Parts: sequence; C-alpha cells; structure tokens
Amino acid sequence: MSERIERLLGQMSLAEKIGQMCQVHGASGDFGDLVRSGGVGSFLNVVEPERANALQRQAVEESRLGIPLLLGRDVIHGFRTVFPIPLGQAASWDPELVEEAARIAAREARAFGVNWTFAPMVDVTREPRWGRVAEGGGEDPVLTAAMGAAMVRGFQSAGVAACAKHYCGYGAAEGGRDYNTTWIPESLLRNVYLPPFRACVEAGALTVMSAFNEINGVPATGNVHTLREILQGEWGFSGFVVSDWSSVAEMVVHGFAADEAEAARLAVQAGVHMEMVSTTFRDHLEALIRNGLIPAELVDDAVRRILQVKEALGLFESPYVDPEEHRRVVLTEAHRETARQLARESCVLLKNDGELLPLGSEVRRIAVLGPLADAPEDQMGCWVMDGRAEEVITPLAALRSALGPGQEVLYAPGLETSRSTDRRGFQDALAALEAADVGLVFLGEEAVLSGEAHCRAFLDLPGAQAELVRTLREVGKPLIGIVLAGRPLVLSGMIELLDACLYAWHPGTMGGPAIVDLLFGHESPSGRLPITFPRAVGQLPIYYAHKNTGRPPRPDAPPIPTGTPLDPVGFFSGYLDVDPTPLFPFGYGLSYTRFEYSDLHLSTKRLSGDEPLIVQVKVRNVGSRAGTEVVQLYIRDLVGSLTRPVRELKAFRRVRLEPDASEIVRFELRPEQLGFYDNEGAFRLEPGVFHLWVGPSCVKGLRETFELPG
Ligand code: GLC
Repeated sequence: MSERIERLLGQMSLAEKIGQMCQVHGASGDFGDLVRSGGVGSFLNVVEPERANALQRQAVEESRLGIPLLLGRDVIHGFRTVFPIPLGQAASWDPELVEEAARIAAREARAFGVNWTFAPMVDVTREPRWGRVAEGGGEDPVLTAAMGAAMVRGFQSAGVAACAKHYCGYGAAEGGRDYNTTWIPESLLRNVYLPPFRACVEAGALTVMSAFNEINGVPATGNVHTLREILQGEWGFSGFVVSDWSSVAEMVVHGFAADEAEAARLAVQAGVHMEMVSTTFRDHLEALIRNGLIPAELVDDAVRRILQVKEALGLFESPYVDPEEHRRVVLTEAHRETARQLARESCVLLKNDGELLPLGSEVRRIAVLGPLADAPEDQMGCWVMDGRAEEVITPLAALRSALGPGQEVLYAPGLETSRSTDRRGFQDALAALEAADVGLVFLGEEAVLSGEAHCRAFLDLPGAQAELVRTLREVGKPLIGIVLAGRPLVLSGMIELLDACLYAWHPGTMGGPAIVDLLFGHESPSGRLPITFPRAVGQLPIYYAHKNTGRPPRPDAPPIPTGTPLDPVGFFSGYLDVDPTPLFPFGYGLSYTRFEYSDLHLSTKRLSGDEPLIVQVKVRNVGSRAGTEVVQLYIRDLVGSLTRPVRELKAFRRVRLEPDASEIVRFELRPEQLGFYDNEGAFRLEPGVFHLWVGPSCVKGLRETFELPG
C-alpha cells in the first residue's frame, strides 16, 4: 500500500470513491463535469490522443484530488498492426512471439492514449459453434495458459494493463450459443477452465473481467465462490475485477437480482470492483452503504485496488501521451515483419498430397480463386477496433507482387463473399483454372461470421463455396485450398477434393505475404491445431482430453448390416453415421519436411517425493528442407478417484532443425502437474501408473510408463 494511495483514500468522499468504481463509454460526448467531480474512474473506447489528454487533464488538473483515468480498449490481436486472431496465434505454439506481438499492440495503443486493454481472452472452449472461439487459445488449458500469460507480459511490458477475461467458464456455453447457460462441475472448472486465469494472475495481470454467463445457476459477475473465494482468496489476486459490459445490471435479466440495487450489492459482495457501462454502482452504492447493506470496507478495498493499478502504470506521474507519438510507432517495418512471422507460424498445413507444396518456379500461371483471396476486412478477423482494411495486404496482392518473370496470376473469385450463392462467377473461375498450371482457392468465413454473438449452428463452408470447389475439381488441375476462418470448419467432403490445404485462420494485416511465403516455401508451415476439427457438427463436443468411458468408441466398427438386428455394430460409444474420431486432431499439422522421434528417456520410472521427472527425446529432421517441429508431451493417469482424461498436454517446445540435424529435447515434469482437483475443490496427487507420450500431436508419439508410488 503506497502512502499516496492511503492518503487519497483518507481524503476521498464516498461519492468520489464510487466514482472510481465506474467505467463510462467515452467514445464521444462531453464528460467534463463528471470527470472534474471525480465521478468516473475510467473510460473505454477513447482512442484519439487529443481526447485522451483532454480527459486526463480534467481529471488530473481540474478535479479535487487529481486522480488519473484508466482508458480501456479491446486491443485483442493488434491495434493498427493486426495480428492473426488469438486462435491462430495459439496455433503457432510460440509464446515468445505471441508476447512480442502483444508488446507491439500495446506500444501502438499506448500512443493513442490507451493504457488498459481488455485482453487476453483465456476462455477455454470445446465449442467451435461459439463465435468467440476465435478470440481464445482453443480447447486446452495448458496451451491457453501459455498464450494468455505471454500476452499479459507483452501488454504490460509496454505500459498497458492487461485484463484476463472472461472470468469464468464463458467458453462452456451450452450449444456453443453465446452468453448461454453453463454447468461446470467443480473438478472441471478447476482442471480445465480456471488454469489459464491462474497463469495470467501469476504472470501479473493487473485486472480480470467477470463474464456474462452464469455458472451452475450463479452469474459469474455475482459469484462469490469464483470471484472472492478462488480468485481473490485462494490465488491472492491483488488487482481489480471489472464487470463485462452491463453484466452487473444483467443479473436482473438472469433472474439472480430482483432489481439493479440488488445487482450492485451482489456484484460488490462477490468481488467486482469496477462496473463497465451500466450504472448500478453510481445509482445505488451510496444508499446501500448508508443502509448498512454493503460494508464500507468493500468499497475501500475496490478503490485501493483501482488506485494501485493506476499507480503501477505510472499514471500519477505521466498521465498524458505525446500526440505525435503514434506517427512514429504505428505499422513500422518491424511491426509488419513480426505480424508476417506470426501469421506464417499460425498457418496449419492440413494436407499436402504428393508434396504439391511448396510451389516451384516452374509454376507459370496461377489461378487465384475463391471469395477470400482479396478480402482485407475479413482477413483481419473479428474484434478489430482500429485496424484498417487499406493497410492489409491480401493474398492476391501479395501474389501479384511476388511474381517472378514469366509468372502470371489469373484472378476470378467465383463468389463475391463467403456467404454468396450467386454462381454466375463460376464460369470465370473455371476458365481461369483451365488456363492455369495450378489453382489456389481461398475459402472460409467472412469476419462477421466470427466473434461475439456470432455463433453458427452449422460449421460447413458458408454459401456456395463447396459447390465452387466441386466444380473446380472437375477441371482436373492441381487444387490448393487456403482457408481463412475464425473457427474450425467442417471440411468433410471438401478436404478430399483438395490436393493440399493450408488453414490460415484470419491472419491479419500481413496474412497475404505470410501465406505466399509458405506457398512458395520461403518457410515451412509449423502451425499445429489448438482445437479439434470435427468430421461433423453432430460430433460436438469433441476434444482430445476426453474420458475413456466404459465402452470406448471403435473407429474400426463394421458397416451397419441390413435388417434390424438388435446389435447393429456392437454396443460401444459412437455414431452409426460418422467415424467417431475427429477429422484432424488437436496438435496436428504437417510440414514440408519430416521429423523422426527416438530415444525417449525418463530420469526414473518411479517418482519419489517432489523430485521432477526429466524427460528427454531425440528429434531429427529426416527430410530435405529446414522446418520447425512442435514437440508435445502428454500424460495419462490410468486410474484415479475421478476418471482422468485419456490424454493431457503437459508441455511443448518448438524446435527448428536443418535437414539431417537432430536435437535432444528436454522437459521437466513436476509432480504437481500429475494431480487434479476433485469435486470438493481439493487438489489430489494420487499414486499410480502413468503413460507418457512425446510426439507431433495428441494421437502420435513415443510412449513410456512411469509410476507415482503411494
Ligand atoms: C464486450 C465483450 C468484452 C469486451 C467488452 C468491452 O461485450 O464481452 O470482451 O471487452 O464488451 O468492449
């Protein structure tokens, strides 16, 4: 507790304290009186340096106590330099590069007066129907935690407070429908949904945002168990919690609060310290305190936390921004290069029959097809508040500028947008492909089909894209699909028609050059899937860290006999009409080279005490091109007092190898990584036998066994 904060707290009136707990949407309008009276602690969506400085001046120089403002913005995956969507960034499995991207984003945002970003979003989800799957780190808590912590470090190293969101369980929305109900047993909450938030808190996140959803009947924004007992109690989180946009007032809509006064009381008692946009704190806190319904200490605690964040950001010393700074820091060559590298590393090569890719210089005429070859707005993806389409380099533009002598691009999109069903462009697309040596067809989703409240019940390629691919296939020329999307799409029926397929997510400002770099082999694809790709939407939820059940699925099930036998194909968990395995598994991705694993070695087969298990494996590049492998380590606890998943990612490492080079990759597994939480919230580390795999995905790898003795 700084002396300054304690002094301020002693000087503040109750109204000024409550003012600090209020965040106002400040994109436009005159808030001079409110700011000078100390009636607001933060604005969101102020992104002009002059306006930011004017508001700060009213707060610092024209109010009674001179407390600076927090100015928040959704800087989710870049500011003006737009990086791949976070799900794409997770596909890079490269926390260091993701941290650098966050640092760049914060540097650019800070130049516009922003000192707080509502990121990283670390909601684990197994629901590609959910529009916000684009915004997080995918289905795994370890990968999401690594990405979230990296972003926290990146943002805050450049003077912008991070905000781990949406606490918690938002990604478990039933049916993948945004804001929907979640039912999350305590063990699942603590083993899957909470670890990324804890990692962000341990990385020093200054703020956390409470979520819209309810958890087991209690809204996250009024949830004493998750907010006060776990986040602020068990974990000792000392920053502050901001509600999501009106999520305090929405507790009335949930049917959890009878009115907004009760909503305010429930939120403050649960441990929400600042209210975003709705005004229940401003309207009711003073009366609630005077009537003894809220202890004044809770308000003091909230204000202390908020002032500490402002102090940690140095806002008391330097609240203003140089109005010319942004001209020096936005979209620099270095920023573009980092965006290009991260976009390259985020692309996942799903198929490459006959090593069609990379394209050689012998390819003279290239047909560029599909509705997303030249769609700059869509290429940036969802949650882009400040990126500009005119600053995006599309695949078409990148190809045209990369052409060598004698090479030619024939462009015919075939469809105007990803949802278009107007087939009149098909003829031109066919003609272009007939005249070309190879076809590149850019498929996927417009950005608007992804992001908050943009959920889809079907995951197929929208519009008439599938028909376009089927039509193009008839030409018989080599056909390469490049998919730009904000989620895993169902590619069944499509992937078979493509000779090669590169999944680029929504790759951001430099997505075009990055894709061209990979298509022509300047780099080998190294992306690995951060989320399972289903064969059919009816398989959902489908994820790698599933339980075994008593009757595991049988992918080799015989065909269904005719007639109506009682037991058509045997009694086991599966579907009669689709293979129970995913189309592409978690951690999967191809390269232009091949890697071989050998010499898996454990430091011991019987762990004792708290000594770590040292795991070593040799990885060799046995192909003809340099490449980067993502070495993944999984375990399985064979028997537990609660059944355990058949695989759990515990560690990973990117390893770049020249042809014929090899490297000994070493992991250290701590005993506590072998434990789990039970349904009473107790952590259990149980003796027993474990399997351990090290390999290129969740379904392949060398296996060893070890024991945790009783
Ligand atoms: C939105 C989102 C949240 C965002 C906030 C401010 O509704 O749920 O992620 O940070 O409002 O824009």
